[in-house]
Amino acid sequence: MEKGQGETPLITIAQHILQEQRRFPGATGEFSFLLSGITLAAKQIQAKVRRAGLTDILGDQDSANVHGEVQQKLDLYSNEVLLRALSFRESVGILASEENEHPAIMPHKSPVAKYAVVFDPLDGSSNIDVNVSVGTTFSILRRPEGADFDDPARWVLQPGRRQMAAGYVVYGSSTVMVYTVGNGVHGFTLDPAVGAFVLSHENIKMPDQGKYYSVNEAYRDNFPDEYITFLNELRSGELNHPYASRYIGSMVADFHRTLLRGGVFMYPPTRDFAQGKLRLLYEANPIAMLAEQAGGSATDGRQRILDIQPEDIHQRTPLIVGSRVEMQRFAELLVPASPDTGQGMAFPP
Ligand code: AHG
Ligand code: MN
Ligand code: MN
Repeated sequence: MEKGQGETPLITIAQHILQEQRRFPGATGEFSFLLSGITLAAKQIQAKVRRAGLTDILGDQDSANVHGEVQQKLDLYSNEVLLRALSFRESVGILASEENEHPAIMPHKSPVAKYAVVFDPLDGSSNIDVNVSVGTTFSILRRPEGADFDDPARWVLQPGRRQMAAGYVVYGSSTVMVYTVGNGVHGFTLDPAVGAFVLSHENIKMPDQGKYYSVNEAYRDNFPDEYITFLNELRSGELNHPYASRYIGSMVADFHRTLLRGGVFMYPPTRDFAQGKLRLLYEANPIAMLAEQAGGSATDGRQRILDIQPEDIHQRTPLIVGSRVEMQRFAELLVPASPDTGQGMAFPP
């Protein structure tokens, strides 16, 4: 009998969130209403992604985002969908997106708004036109004490350890939503026949060690020394067995594999980009929270990702995230930061 039928109880994401919410005394249901906005948007985005080749939605938009990157039509569509799905929820006060330079202040300016949501509406844009997996990432933060609508940055410039919840959706061979509220990591697969996300991966734990490393190796000559040493060790079998590589170029998809199969995903600093490419608030933070909840860890090469105090909504960070064994070895290779220069990493000559 197929999983999810017969004696196996069928649990939808909505039921699961309600169950999780019961753990919080005095919970009012606002939080589950908020998350239902994200699942609704995810269904709309996946429907568009699935029909991408049939409709006039592929390609560039003739515009660039705050990072100077060409925006794809699907980037903008996904952004609009998420903004629309979350703007009318009174519990949400501020929305910040990769595609918008400034955070959006919700017009209701409700005094009862408790949360800020930050997201990357479509991750892996370069893969859209070639039918390769893309994703959405999100991070939910509680409104800091005393923060008002005149200072939206205060709502979102919080270290990742304060995330209330985080997750992603991967639009792959199926559509899977993975989330955590700090009580383990759970995955739901969209049943397209009925339009519901059904629990398919309960309490995901990352294997202690994996078989793959995932990095854009074309930039290898520009990585700091310890990253090169680490990659050499993984390849040569010094860490119990020789590794193979997998790199999709969509962080969500690369991380989803790393979460389920173990191993390590990294986007290191390079000679030209000391902070790498990925963004702290809506890419690294949600991934780091999920990794830690699943028994793995995430660092920028200097400190735990979740301890970084953000200074800018769109700031970048190197990201190294993975299983216990790989992350421990990587930590041993890191050169401690010098108190004089603050430099912890050397680049090869
Ligand atoms: P986005 O599409 O949201 O701009 O993110 C793309 C990111 C990330 O998904 C991926 O890991 C990385 O870009 C790939 O970059 P490289 O092509 O430099 O490897
Ligand atoms: Mn992205
Ligand atoms: Mn994006």
